[in-house]
Amino acid sequence: MVGIRDTRGRPLRDLRISVTDRCNMRCRYCMPREVFGSDFAFLSKMDILTYEEIDRLAGLFISLGVEKIRLSGGEPLLRKDLPELISMLALRKVEIAMTTNGVLLPRFAPALSAAGLDRVTVSLDALDEATFAAMTDSGHTVAAVLAGIEAAESVGLGPIKINTVVKKGANEDELIDLVERFSSREIAVRFIEFMDVGTTNGWDMEDVVTAEEIRGMLAELEPIESQYRGEVAKRYRLPQGGEVGLITSVTEPFCGDCSRARLSADGHLYTCLFASQGLDLLTPMREGASDDDLLALIESCWINREDRYSEIRTESSTAHTRVEMSFIGG
Ligand code: GTP
Ligand code: 5AD
Ligand code: SF4
Ligand code: SF4
Repeated sequence: MVGIRDTRGRPLRDLRISVTDRCNMRCRYCMPREVFGSDFAFLSKMDILTYEEIDRLAGLFISLGVEKIRLSGGEPLLRKDLPELISMLALRKVEIAMTTNGVLLPRFAPALSAAGLDRVTVSLDALDEATFAAMTDSGHTVAAVLAGIEAAESVGLGPIKINTVVKKGANEDELIDLVERFSSREIAVRFIEFMDVGTTNGWDMEDVVTAEEIRGMLAELEPIESQYRGEVAKRYRLPQGGEVGLITSVTEPFCGDCSRARLSADGHLYTCLFASQGLDLLTPMREGASDDDLLALIESCWINREDRYSEIRTESSTAHTRVEMSFIGG
């Protein structure tokens, strides 16, 4: 089998590429407005990978075993001409998915699909407008996200998944409504435990609604076998048909099979969502590194990888600096 393995025997299968660190929402758990305000220094155009550079790196990662690429952000649809990147990546014959907040999908879904995007995952934390507004802290509405989901459906960007971050006191009372709304339409809702990514979202274990509590709210869930090694969500069949997923990074970590590498918009390779540092690939690339030079860098980084942050999360580990979710992509 092609591919490389890290110190724990985990292959490199999944590449998540953040194409921008900007977003048109300010979700409290991700980009709190007090920190990501009008004076926040986002990456400048010069400091982010061009589409040619992303495509070149993607090709190298694929040669090391990557089978799936996910585009993320920030909000990936804020990056200009994203379909151009997708049409380049589509020639590489791997699955291409995207995580988006959905509000720009009505405008871009047809071009994304035509360019070769396979499917989208849309973030949606509530169906109630007031709850949604409080969590996303932006002028955007649930109605706009639902229109985005419709647009994606109508051009075949499925199976669509919904990501819902669950935060205590914020949206627990929305979970049943979300499941009921989407289960009949072959759209899987995945509930994500509020995570301590980054250092700006004021994370506190008290605010986590645990997977166990969520299972208690939903009742009568029948576990579904995972589709592939390293699947992020635990999946369950619902009594009324359809399925729901739980992403349990805090209380039931899944580092054992983690085959995900992350490439930030400024061309750094991160081998864990909770990493504090990444490996700079942009600088060597712009200084003329050959494909073999870059492959050697990536390979050595993965082979030496030890990450299992969620499994060993302790007070001292949560104290270290961690890269922000909006920077590294989800
Ligand atoms: P598919 O199975 O291909 O649909 O992808 P996925 O389940 O990886 O989907 P997605 O990217 O939507 O991941 C869902 C969410 O799970 C992310 O946005 C993160 O919040 C969380 N997540 C994904 N990968 C990891 C990981 O490696 N570690 C942790 N702790 N959380 C993750
Ligand atoms: N905890 C859990 N999930 C988060 N996301 C962003 N920040 C957090 C957090 N602190 C999710 C978003 C989106 C994906 C990219 O990551 O809801 O679906
Ligand atoms: Fe933007 Fe997604 Fe972060 Fe919300 S969770 S601020 S939509 S990147
Ligand atoms: Fe992978 Fe790090 Fe998440 Fe564990 S905490 S699953 S190693 S990204």
